[in-house]
Amino acid sequence: MVPLITYLFQKSIENPFIDDDLVLIIGEITSATKIIAGKVRKASLLDVLGSAEKINVQGEVVQKLDELANDIITETLKCTGKACMLASEEVEDCLILSDSGYSIAFDPLDGSSNIDVNISIGTIFSIHKGDIKKSGREQIAAGYVIYGPSTMLVLAFRGFVSVFTLDPETGNFMLVEENLKMPEKGKIYSINEANYDKWESDGLRKFIDSLKEEKYTLRYVGSMVADVHRTLFKGGVFIYPSDIKNRNGKLRLLYEGSPMAFIVENAGGMAITGEKSILDVVPEELHQRVPVILGSKWEVEKCLKYLKNG
Ligand code: AHG
Ligand code: MN
Ligand code: MN
Repeated sequence: MVPLITYLFQKSIENPFIDDDLVLIIGEITSATKIIAGKVRKASLLDVLGSAEKINVQGEVVQKLDELANDIITETLKCTGKACMLASEEVEDCLILSDSGYSIAFDPLDGSSNIDVNISIGTIFSIHKGDIKKSGREQIAAGYVIYGPSTMLVLAFRGFVSVFTLDPETGNFMLVEENLKMPEKGKIYSINEANYDKWESDGLRKFIDSLKEEKYTLRYVGSMVADVHRTLFKGGVFIYPSDIKNRNGKLRLLYEGSPMAFIVENAGGMAITGEKSILDVVPEELHQRVPVILGSKWEVEKCLKYLKNG
């Protein structure tokens, strides 16, 4: 079995864009996630459950673990000396560290509403060279760590996606799957169906109705990492659409939509806003939102047809 860092150095031979600085940054992000995984595992024994009694830039309640995860990742990345900009869900402005290097956008803790009830949560990250406000297509790498029954890392570069599991005995992320390709079609749809009447598109309602007729089943954890992870391995579709309350959906482009779209597209799936690939959206604001429809090609293409026909 191959540990993450060894794997990255091996891959850097055929992929020169995986330079030493990028290996350092990915190594340090994943080190930070090991610390977070430790806190998550014994959360109810530490004073990290519950709200931090603050509202973040998104107007959402900040959980103690959101704040802790943000501090751990920020401090770890600052120490590398190779990160020029950091953008976090929990911080209003971009943190500028130097003029050149890699910029990292991250959702330190995804799935906040599941923290207190011991359900899978995660960390999502997106890496660009230079400026952070570039389209997802220009990402150098993107990934997420899921804190589930085991802690896993899914890491994408242009052209390939690799999967690692944290071995708690050695503390290494070990390669478990190379060149992950997602199923072309699945049997599961994942959407917060309680919002059915609030969705802006009639086409979307008809699409979901059509999946029911085709005997699909519904799975919705409410942590994007967990819902995307299942979609990657089992196929199907995950959707967070625009609705009358959230005109651009709920999920954020830079550290949720864009990295997940990069992973899904490089695993052979599709990720769209309803109009175009999420990877082609050029960000205007740091915390802008984006509607997300991602998953197996079959379902996403079908959804697109329904959206166009209204
Ligand atoms: P976060 O915890 O980082 O704010 O993200 C929560 C997101 C995402 O993980 C999930 O897909 C979505 O919120 C669920 O939202 P609803 O509760 O509206 O379905
Ligand atoms: Mn999130
Ligand atoms: Mn979050």
